[in-house]
Amino acid sequence: MRVMVTGGLGFIGSHLVRWILNHQPEVEVINVDSLTYAGNPENLADVKDNPRYRWRRISVSDSLALNTLLDESPVDAIMNLAAESHVDRSIQSGVPFMETNVLGTQVLLEAARSHGVKRFLQVSTDEVYGSLGPDGLFSETSPLAPNSPYSASKASADLLTLAAFHTYRQDIIVTRCSNNYGPYQFPEKLIPLFVTNGLEQKPWPLYGDGLNVRDWLHVEDHVRALWMVLQSGSPGEVYNIGGNNEHTNREIAHALADLMGLPYSIIVPVADRLGHDRRYAIDANKIRRELGWQPEVSWSQGLQDTVAWYRDHRGWWERIKSGTYLQYYRNQYGVL
Ligand code: NAD
Ligand code: DAU
Repeated sequence: MRVMVTGGLGFIGSHLVRWILNHQPEVEVINVDSLTYAGNPENLADVKDNPRYRWRRISVSDSLALNTLLDESPVDAIMNLAAESHVDRSIQSGVPFMETNVLGTQVLLEAARSHGVKRFLQVSTDEVYGSLGPDGLFSETSPLAPNSPYSASKASADLLTLAAFHTYRQDIIVTRCSNNYGPYQFPEKLIPLFVTNGLEQKPWPLYGDGLNVRDWLHVEDHVRALWMVLQSGSPGEVYNIGGNNEHTNREIAHALADLMGLPYSIIVPVADRLGHDRRYAIDANKIRRELGWQPEVSWSQGLQDTVAWYRDHRGWWERIKSGTYLQYYRNQYGVL
């Protein structure tokens, strides 16, 4: 079996590629990643010479390049993770989000259809459901009500994917996951930003009152779920994926400070994110019931291991934060 993973040089995509190569010895992986600021060949340095792995530097919105690749190397399935993924960047400008997240998904769907790809998995997010009050959970049938340019672009991609099932009976599935954490997460997101700032004795910018709530899941639990859905999910269906693990941002800041032996005075309240969604919480009963998936990494162990990983991989994040990682790509991997 050969699988195309898009966005495989990013945070979740690199975990997914490594997981497939390690756990599915019959599967070949083609990684389609255009290497934006968020992609990093170093994330997959340990598998780059694996004969079952290849990376092609192609944008998912480049129809000609994608179709040529699929002509040369047919695949059985596409798992679409390529995206502009950071809400704060989408508030600055939504244009790249539309190009990759919306146009790119449509280009991939059409390429998959014309090449007879047996299954297309669209990796989406709980943010498409919008914001919750203090109670309740998002189920797969909750209405889509995205609030940021990022989440609106992801909701559009979900609708295009579901429309392909309705119109053409194309075999597609959509997954919607809550906030991921773990190694290799780009240090502009909450947990890696705070941990790396803590290691540099820099302040932690906590937006607004710090009481926004997210449901956190370890990235390894997410990629295992994605493989289960690809293998055993039903066509045309949506599967929520979540950790049943809600925390306010302030609780996370306190937990990280405790783990790192830092005073709470490192936390500095700053202006709130525009349109900041108050609470996300996922009902993941469907994937548990139908596919037997459940999270395996406990929050306390996962957070402790994540802090240790950033402490032990200083070069990885220092190159990113200083901006010298682009030069490093060129020297190490001959790209850019
Ligand atoms: P990321 O920003 O770390 O990585 C994105 C990857 O996509 C990068 O390697 C980048 O180079 C690549 N990419 C961007 N534009 C591209 C294009 N036009 N063509 C090809 N490659 C391109 O993102 P992530 O956090 O790993 O998220 C992966 C996916 O999972 C996204 O679709 C995101 O919406 C979804 N998701 C993320 C989370 C989370 O907490 N991080 C939760 C739920 C869902
Ligand atoms: O819910 C899934 C989503 O989770 C994914 O679809 C997105 O791709 C992913 O980036 C993530 O989005 P969030 O906006 O929830 O993640 P972020 O790490 O940017 O922020 C998490 C919370 O922390 C949010 O309430 C904003 C807050 N925050 C974030 C940063 C970067 C701060 O208070 N300070 C910060 O500096």
